[in-house]
Amino acid sequence: MQTQPTFLQLRCHLESIIVGQTKLLDRLLIAVLSGGHILLEGLPGLAKTRAVTALASGIHASFQRIQFTPDLMPADLTGSDIFNPNDRTFNFITGPLFHEIVLADEINRAPPKVQSALLEAMQEHQITVGGVTRDLPDLFIVMATQNPLEQSGTYPLPEAQLDRFLLHVVLDYPSAADELLILQRDQQSYFGADTAAVDSALKPETVLAARREVAKVHIEEVLEKYIIQLVGATRELTQIDDQWQGYLRAGASPRASIALLRASSALAYLNGREYVIPEDIVEMAPDVLRHRIVLNHTARTANVDADAIIQRILAEITVP
Ligand SMILES: Nc1ncnc2c1ncn2[C@@H]1O[C@H](COP(=O)(O)OP(=O)(O)O)[C@@H](O)[C@H]1O
Ligand SMILES: [Mg+2]
Repeated sequence: MQTQPTFLQLRCHLESIIVGQTKLLDRLLIAVLSGGHILLEGLPGLAKTRAVTALASGIHASFQRIQFTPDLMPADLTGSDIFNPNDRTFNFITGPLFHEIVLADEINRAPPKVQSALLEAMQEHQITVGGVTRDLPDLFIVMATQNPLEQSGTYPLPEAQLDRFLLHVVLDYPSAADELLILQRDQQSYFGADTAAVDSALKPETVLAARREVAKVHIEEVLEKYIIQLVGATRELTQIDDQWQGYLRAGASPRASIALLRASSALAYLNGREYVIPEDIVEMAPDVLRHRIVLNHTARTANVDADAIIQRILAEITVP
């Protein structure tokens, strides 16, 4: 747990820039700590972009923001072979994905072929262009933002590929008290760039060391089985409601079980514990499972969504 205090420092740095949104800040740190990608969803103006930029300014890593737009092409992300007329050879020019922290901003504004180039890099940790495969950096992590799907001019992410994100976090409006602080801080920030890189920024080696420590966080077998039960319940909804099974197109895969274990371990570590407790699992379950439960149209008419299902599962399947 040697690296844990440095993460608490990083948290303070984030809190100095973002008012409230404690859940969001925790989740960003958990993604960094477990090397998982994170999808932030919320209406415009809820500080999604700002939070990720703030995080990047607290880590000494190469950071790239990519604004997704309808005219973006896959090669704009991956890079491409450029012909050099002088020596008549092709040279590969790396695209913006070849960075350590990548902010894929407003990911649902780009067409599916661009999204899939990104999702592939996330899954494979490498990029293949012109038959040559190149590895991405060890630290490589994608933080994507999207506005809710109802908005026009967007392309919903392919459901089958969504589970490449470790976490899917849904943001809410700030409280009135927080919003007042946001106003006051906004005025102050006119006098200084608060997202400039800080001296105490975490080194990439520290992040990688922290990930190794998170992997060593202990979990009892009974809690591993609890994870399996929760994830399993998303495939067999008859366990909680006979009607709901008919709403289900697909439940969460074993990738979800791994994600829930990793995210729970990272949360335990952030809270200064070397072992997972049931509360860690309960806390992380919604963000780990939300995007992995695929429902059909009948579910929508019946007003049942993934969150309702997760809450019922957590209520029915008791903590061992
Ligand atoms: N919780 C918050 N803390 C600090 N600033 C905030 C917060 N919520 C909104 N803001 C303000 O709103 C602006 C919009 O944030 P931005 O990151 O661009 O939103 P989004 O990417 O979600 O559309 C920020 O520049 C910031 O001034
Ligand atoms: Mg934004």
